[in-house]
Amino acid sequence: MTAAHIPSSETLLAELQDRVLTLTLNRPEKLNALNIALIDELHRALEAAARHSEVGVVIVTGSGLKAFVAGADISEFAHFSPEQGKQLSAEGHRKLFSYAEQFPKPIIAAINGFALGGGLELALGCHIRVASETAKLGFPELNLGVIPGYGGTQRLAHLVGKGKALEMILTTDMVTATEAHRLGLVNHVVAPDNLLPFCMEMAKKMAAKSPLALRTALTTILAGYAHSQGGLETEIEAFGACFGTEDFKEGVSAFLEKRKAVFTGK
Ligand code: COA
Repeated sequence: MTAAHIPSSETLLAELQDRVLTLTLNRPEKLNALNIALIDELHRALEAAARHSEVGVVIVTGSGLKAFVAGADISEFAHFSPEQGKQLSAEGHRKLFSYAEQFPKPIIAAINGFALGGGLELALGCHIRVASETAKLGFPELNLGVIPGYGGTQRLAHLVGKGKALEMILTTDMVTATEAHRLGLVNHVVAPDNLLPFCMEMAKKMAAKSPLALRTALTTILAGYAHSQGGLETEIEAFGACFGTEDFKEGVSAFLEKRKAVFTGK
């Protein structure tokens, strides 16, 4: 069943079944990279889902077999100034990443492939993560001369601990779904064909509970992590500052020109 009251489009598909809303990011030719328009669309869809009593739980996934989300859209921010970079991060937090974490209904990330950079941050903003066996997760930002700017510097460590979070961000090495499960980064790993059915079963279990109790549980559990607010603010400032460096210009140019970056530390 399509979800008539949930805003959807060609790039964001919405389907409502048994009180579970599935939102599918649909830019497969760009590996579902998150541009500003898609972040806005997700925000509007979630805002509508929060209001509608027919929606008990939300599943977020990516179209195609290759990627959940391969990050923020690099081509869009390649020429941003530090001020624009800071705003990109702050707006992203407000509209999607912190918005999802503080959402009054459970959100499950069904990670169907690459979850990189902003893609992993979207998954981290969700309440539960389930990965397909083929998924790969990581933070490639340092290859671009920038840092994670959508909550990754704070939320990764909450799940995997400080040491592994530092290693993943500083080396940019991706982890497989199995390794992500071992680290506590994802709750379950399932066969690709079983990803959405598995998430649907879990979602239906939650959707049958008292909406009020679900919301209270979410708010209460997350209250313990409220101290990360200061870290998120630091992240927004630091992310913006990266946009003023030579290394950032070199990093994004190298990606777009499909070559290896040569950094000078300027
Ligand atoms: N932003 C913009 N475009 C992206 C993108 C992103 N984050 N990730 C992938 N794409 C685009 C590619 O530019 C390519 O477009 P093109 O066909 O017009 O050249 C298309 O999606 C397919 O990606 P491609 O790199 O050809 O696929 P691959 O299988 O060789 O590599 C990845 C897959 C995920 C390893 C690689 O795409 C990648 O490293 N992506 C960037 C990840 C990243 O740095 N994310 C953090 C952003 S802050």
